[in-house]
Amino acid sequence: MRSLLLGLLCACGSAPPPPTTVVLASSTPASDAADAIRAKELVYESAAWTRVTLEAYEKSTLCLAIGHVNSAPRSTHRPGEMFHTYVSPDAVAAYRDGGELPVGAAISKRAFDPTTGATTAYFLMWKEAASTWTYATVSREGTALRAGALRDCAGCHDKQRANDFLFRKI
Ligand code: HEC
Repeated sequence: MRSLLLGLLCACGSAPPPPTTVVLASSTPASDAADAIRAKELVYESAAWTRVTLEAYEKSTLCLAIGHVNSAPRSTHRPGEMFHTYVSPDAVAAYRDGGELPVGAAISKRAFDPTTGATTAYFLMWKEAASTWTYATVSREGTALRAGALRDCAGCHDKQRANDFLFRKI
């Protein structure tokens, strides 16, 4: 029995399966566990937030949120997805009016399949402190794919610094 077990272990251990996920260089899963937990909480909370986009919109030519899809083909948005944006209750007025959002404010850009309405991914950002946003991507199953001070996200949103780092598509 013991040798059978060892034999099985050896058989499995000798050739590890190829990785099925693509880990991007800027991914920060291990060191940002608290941010990953917060991201998952926010996805739950976002079900009760206000939708600020009047109509669903199609893939943006600008928002290349890398890390959205963590399996081949690695891409930014899935073909055919549509988007809606939701804002936490404390920040809806400021988001709409162009004002500065309060610390603690959170925003979810939800991708969904327009045929079924099913969510395909969440892009989150929440305000930790003045001028300090944390970014995350969460899968449709609620798994935090990436969370933290994601530099690729900030690469675009930092250009909106004068607008509290937001694009405010409504
Ligand atoms: C190439 C530029 C670009 C990158 C990179 C980018 N975004 Fe965006 N983001 C946009 C634009 C433009 C919008 C406005 C809505 C749209 O066009 O999809 C937006 C909107 C958003 C919003 C809605 C809040 C608002 O009004 O700005 C969230 C949340 C968001 N992005 C999260 C992320 C996350 C998370 C990442 C990284 C994984 C990311 N973005 C990377 C350009 C970018």
